[in-house]
Amino acid sequence: MYVSEKIKKNTTKGSVIRKMFDEGLALKQRYGENNVFDLSLGNPVMEPPAEFIRELKELAEHPPAGMHRYMENAGYRETRAAVADYLAEETGLNFAMKDIIMTCGAAGALNVVLKTILNQGEEVILFAPYFVEYANYIANHGGVSVVLQTDEQFMPRLDVLEDTISPKTKAVLINSPNNPSGVVYNQDFLHRLGELLRKKEAQYGTGIFLISDEAYCKIIYDGLKYPSPLHHYQQTIIVNSHSKDLALPGERIGYIAVHPECSEHQELMNGFVFCNRTLGFINAPALLQHLVGRLQRVTVSIAEYQQKRDFLYDRLVKMGYSVTKPQGAFYLFPKSPLEDEVAFVRELAQWKVLTVPGSGFGTPGYFRIAYCVEDRTLEGSLEGFRKVAEKFKLTG
Ligand SMILES: Cc1ncc(COP(=O)(O)O)c(C=O)c1O
Repeated sequence: MYVSEKIKKNTTKGSVIRKMFDEGLALKQRYGENNVFDLSLGNPVMEPPAEFIRELKELAEHPPAGMHRYMENAGYRETRAAVADYLAEETGLNFAMKDIIMTCGAAGALNVVLKTILNQGEEVILFAPYFVEYANYIANHGGVSVVLQTDEQFMPRLDVLEDTISPKTKAVLINSPNNPSGVVYNQDFLHRLGELLRKKEAQYGTGIFLISDEAYCKIIYDGLKYPSPLHHYQQTIIVNSHSKDLALPGERIGYIAVHPECSEHQELMNGFVFCNRTLGFINAPALLQHLVGRLQRVTVSIAEYQQKRDFLYDRLVKMGYSVTKPQGAFYLFPKSPLEDEVAFVRELAQWKVLTVPGSGFGTPGYFRIAYCVEDRTLEGSLEGFRKVAEKFKLTG
């Protein structure tokens, strides 16, 4: 009666992930935190880099005057210029302060972008598996999610995309490196995607944005350089975050970057500033803006994440699990040995190994492992993975 019908529906609908989370909590209470191997959350166990602590101390000792006051809704000019310099260096494009808006993480950035561009009923195309909150964010702003399945390597099928884009399509949302598959989209794919979007814009006489969620773009392995969609499509909007690369998810800091040659650039930026303000974010946290402006070229240890990936990937493959080797982010997305992956995740939980069913990411039949945890948690999980592999005779 008091809560809106829409929100009531959302909060009461049986979320599988929520249920698993509650079951995990119960296991931890029963057996103790250290005896449960929780690989369910993308909450990095790494602490922020030493440079972050150094700059934080420096700011505390020598705070700029007025550091805690309101500011321009787009964020501090020095911070936006620092982000633009970094992007210009990385991409060779002419990024400047005018292309950047600081936000409360990638989640804040996505909500600002979607609110700015969506008219009621317009469609945003997603590729499963996808970050679980996308559909909620799109619905927040009157949009409709259109979910497309990917191929066996979790790559979007461009022929299916071609058939799906309609005059109602306002944006295609990509996430590379991908949560949960770890897949990185290469230059060739991005080139073909850009060509397709241009073709469809011309066919329908509409504007289609490519929204690129780059929350994991610095967490990339095997010496790969991040392939940016900016080189292939002008109507690209980047949403980014320092939750993962600087291990600051609780601090809520990220940004939106618009391709310097994007059409209707000024109108878009005005819209983003308005929505950052009126969604109630007002601006990204002041202290964090001062810090990340100084840390654009710093990350947590990527080598450490790569070691964790190799450790778990190699062992799971030896046990007979079928897994695509991730090139980035900090997740594995193996095929579930049981068709009903929720049942499989429950089997693992019996061995006190917590993972997340693929249906939570729009891709049933798989499960997600987050390996951004202590090595002892990864080591401790192996017995459970082995026992379950034996039970389902994965090695034949
Ligand atoms: C793909 C992806 N996008 C966005 C987010 C949200 O990031 P932030 O903490 O910056 O809001 C996450 C968080 O896990 C994510 O995995």
